[in-house]
Formats: sequence, structure tokens, C-alpha cells
Amino acid sequence: MDINTIRQETRGLKDGKIFLNNAGSSLMPDLVTDAMVDYLKLEEFSGGYHVADVNADILEEFYDETAKLVNAGPSNMAFATSATEAYSKALSSIIFKEGDVIITTADDYISNQITFISLQKKIGVKIIRMKNLPDHELDLEDLQRLIREHHPKLIAVTHIPTNSGLIQNVEAVGKMCREHDILYLVDACQSVGQMVVDVEKIGCDFLTATGRKFLRGPRGTGFLFVSDRVLEQDYAPLLLDMRGADCTGYNDYELFRTAKRFEHWEFSYASMLGLKHAVRYANNIGMDMVEKYNRELSRKLRENLKNYGFNVWDWGNRLSSIVTFSGPDGDLENIRKVLKENNVYFSVTYKNSALIDFTKKDINGIVRLSPHYFNTIEEIEKVSEILKASLK
Ligand SMILES: Cc1ncc(COP(=O)(O)O)c(C=O)c1O
Repeated sequence: MDINTIRQETRGLKDGKIFLNNAGSSLMPDLVTDAMVDYLKLEEFSGGYHVADVNADILEEFYDETAKLVNAGPSNMAFATSATEAYSKALSSIIFKEGDVIITTADDYISNQITFISLQKKIGVKIIRMKNLPDHELDLEDLQRLIREHHPKLIAVTHIPTNSGLIQNVEAVGKMCREHDILYLVDACQSVGQMVVDVEKIGCDFLTATGRKFLRGPRGTGFLFVSDRVLEQDYAPLLLDMRGADCTGYNDYELFRTAKRFEHWEFSYASMLGLKHAVRYANNIGMDMVEKYNRELSRKLRENLKNYGFNVWDWGNRLSSIVTFSGPDGDLENIRKVLKENNVYFSVTYKNSALIDFTKKDINGIVRLSPHYFNTIEEIEKVSEILKASLK
């Protein structure tokens, strides 16, 4: 992995900023924006339909690249306009009845929790959150018990929560789902692009991702993986359109066989092309290399922050490239001010985005720094020094 070249290929890094908000919305490699702009210019001259026809093969490569990224087949992949859209469509394909049980975790993404609560209010599904062990790992014995007692219709786990560095043991949960033949939905929004994500190893039926974060794609993009198991059983979004099925009679349709049935007919092809290039860029570097390097960056950052007296809020045995912390006295605002003044990109999350987790931790919010493979150890040291100096 040649970090100098990677940095040279990213115009957004050339003004000297230290960009540490990859869990928010990262910087696209130049070739991503260039491909999108070129494609839009073609649309400007010939209209979108003509350009899509001429570029059909190039657009189709989106499915190959995303499949390669997560170790699936191209027919298992669908484009989405966001992780949330992918998640909603996956959920909508499951016909819930009153009393059906969804098992999730206390650390699942807040919008997913809101969706489950909506299903609870509208349909009467029951939400159960599995317990954590004292070291914050998922309590898998408790999960076994919950499965035996409640026969859940769905288990849903967020691989890496938005508000902490935790990496959930999605593989162990997947093993149980397969043993008990339970539908398994994994939100990999924060893990794709920053670490190896392998749907075979995870054993999931659905996996959702966004483009703009660690994948370094454009906004308004994402993807959904759908397993063969689920496709063969004719799972499809509740509200289908002609991208998903062929209308075969006045009152009938036939589902298309691939995961494209989870797409809607209209979306931005320039954006899909941009995401294809971003995913190809990641595939070419190699996710194992990215994961290893990111682990080093985040380990160093956490170590420095702890040494300087900051509260680091990442609980769990395996930690990701999301580093969350506050000042020694819980301060967020001074840190925010200092990072801004020094041209460091970061984000701040408050309790309403992570209600259960932050209640347990007894905090109102965190500052989040999320380094990625284009960052250098020198940048990590510099930011650490800036933060250390802010304590004086
Ligand atoms: C863990 C997780 N899941 C899902 C999402 C939603 O992604 P999107 O905004 O692309 O729908 C986010 C966004 O921050 C996230 O962090």
C-alpha cells in the first residue's frame, strides 16, 4: 500500500487538512469524481437513456466489484441510494405478524432501532436486545437462550456501531442463525471499506452498506447483499417496481431472479458508476492491507489519547477505526473548537444518536475521529499533540 500515491490521488487532501471523519463522509479518490463528471457530461449531450445503453457493460461492473468486496456473486448484489434504503427494503421483504420477535443488540444503529420500534408500534412485533458480557462482547449464551425461548423471525446486528469503536462478533451470531435457520440482517455501513467483510463467513441473508464513508464513494449511494437462500425463497421488497418484476398479467407479475429485484427502476447511474470506481479502488488496494493499517492508526490514536488523560469510550475486545472520546471532565466543546481551529475534520455525536450505549456509559456525547488508510502516523501524532496542548 503506497500511501504517498494514494494521497496524491486525492485532491481533497491537498490543502493541508487532516481528514479524520471517514465514518461520517470520506474524501473520494480523484478517479471517482472524474468518472462521475465525465458520465454526467455524456448525459448532458445524449440524454440518460442513450448513455446507459452505450455504457451498459461498464455499469454492470458495479455488481462484480461490490460482489468481490464482500465475497459474494454479482447476482447477490443490488445498488441502493443509502444504507438506510437498503436496510428498509431488506426489512420490508420480511412479512412480520403481530408477536413476531426481532432480536437485536443494544449497539445497533439508531435509525435501525427506530425502524424496529415503528414495526413494534404498527404491527406489534417484539424487540429483544441481547445482553452484553462485562467486556461488552455479545453474550452468546444469552442469545442461545433467547433463540430457544422466542424463535425469532429475524436477528439484526450492526457490525460496527456509528458511535463507538466496537466490532461486533457477527460471525458467531451468523453461525447460530444458520444452525436455527433464522433470517440474519447485518448493517455493515461502518465496516465495509475499513476492514474485510465476508458474507460467507458471516452467514447473513442481508448485508447493507453505504458508499460515502470508509468506501470513499459519493453521497447517495450504497448497496445491499441478498443471499441465494433468500432469493430462492422469493423474498422481495414489499413495494416492488418494474426493476424487480415483469408484469405478466393484469393481476400478476414474475419476480426477476437476481438481487436487482431490491432496486427501484430510477436512480443516478453516474453515482452508481462513482461507487463502482470507489469499490474497485478499495479492492485493488486490498481490504486485508487496509484493515491492518487502520488498526495500527486507531491503536496509536487511542493510546495517545489515554496517555494524555482523555476518556476513550470504545468498549470491546476488537476495536475498529472509529475512536470516540471526551475530555477528562467530559468536555466536547473545547475539543470541537480546537480541532476546527487546526483544520482537523472530525464529528461529534450526542446521546440521541446512541441512547442505550451512552446511557450505559453515563455520557452525553463523544468526539469521533475515524482515521483511514490515506492518513499517516505523523497526522495521528500531530492531532494527538494538538489535543494534548488544548488541556493546558
Ligand atoms: C452503523 C450505521 N448504519 C447505518 C447508517 C446509515 O447510513 P445512510 O445514511 O447511508 O443511510 C449509518 C450512518 O451513519 C451508520 O453509521
